[in-house]
Amino acid sequence: MSDLRHFIDLSDFTGDELVTILNHAKALKAARAGLPKGAPDPDACLSGEVLAMIFEKSSTRTRISFDVGMRQLGGSTIVMQSADMQLGRGEPVSDTAHVMSRFVDGIMLRANDHNALVELAEKSTVPVINALTDFSHPCQLMADMLTIDEHLGSIKGKKIVWMGDGNNVATSLIHCAVLFNFSLTLACPDSLPPSPEVLAWANEKGGDVVVTTTADGATDGADVVITDCWVSMGDTDVDMRMQALTPFQVSEASMAAAADHAIFMHCLPAHRGEEVVEAVIDGPQSVIFDEAENRLHAQKAILAWCLGKI
Ligand code: CP
Ligand code: NVA
Repeated sequence: MSDLRHFIDLSDFTGDELVTILNHAKALKAARAGLPKGAPDPDACLSGEVLAMIFEKSSTRTRISFDVGMRQLGGSTIVMQSADMQLGRGEPVSDTAHVMSRFVDGIMLRANDHNALVELAEKSTVPVINALTDFSHPCQLMADMLTIDEHLGSIKGKKIVWMGDGNNVATSLIHCAVLFNFSLTLACPDSLPPSPEVLAWANEKGGDVVVTTTADGATDGADVVITDCWVSMGDTDVDMRMQALTPFQVSEASMAAAADHAIFMHCLPAHRGEEVVEAVIDGPQSVIFDEAENRLHAQKAILAWCLGKI
């Protein structure tokens, strides 16, 4: 890949680089206190720059947070569903990358297939940002790291527990465990494990990452309990998932076993009564809306980094 500042996966970065981006996110958030949401930042560092946003899958948070974030940074966006583009009629990713690079300063892609994102980044001459693929969701985890820092202080050495599907969000969480130095337990059914390649990467880097195939005792002493939907966008094996994941539901008992100060997190959208009971997600330990808001602040810092402003 070129020396362009793409944001593809957290494993492409050092921990120090990610901390720099997060510190910038904190500063950007603090600098906006009291401003209307549509007002530009005091330092609108992306004035005149354009971000193209391509969605192959649905989105609420990602779409709005990138769009508002670019406005606050002084730039603008073009938002497209891939089905409305020639890309959706079979135009090669490569040609799309070359053409878009002539028009815009950065490209954000939410893709079905991670390989399409990598190809876009390889062929593009402007930075490309991963806004979720079947493999990973790094922007979400940057917002999550910011949220944990705000609620519990430094994440270093904390115990984080993931309950459920070893999916794309779990991949980026494993990357974080290594890069931010925390202890991660992933409680996932045998049939839905985290990526073996990502676990091997974490192991090679000396990460404190444990996988268990039972939910029993998984949340004991946890500082953070995280889960995600049981059926991700693009998943078709719904019945198998429902059956395999039922024992991994985050319940009041799961949270009672965690530390008293523990927080509950979920990237959203959530399905109350499936991966988490209503009493937990709507209860006092839940920080889901702070987590959602932090998508904005974290991604503004990512945009500033990609476009060479930090
Ligand atoms: N968490 C997240 O990425 O939400 P959206 O799918 O709504 O963008
Ligand atoms: N794992 C979920 C995350 C949604 C933000 C999905 O890919 O659908």
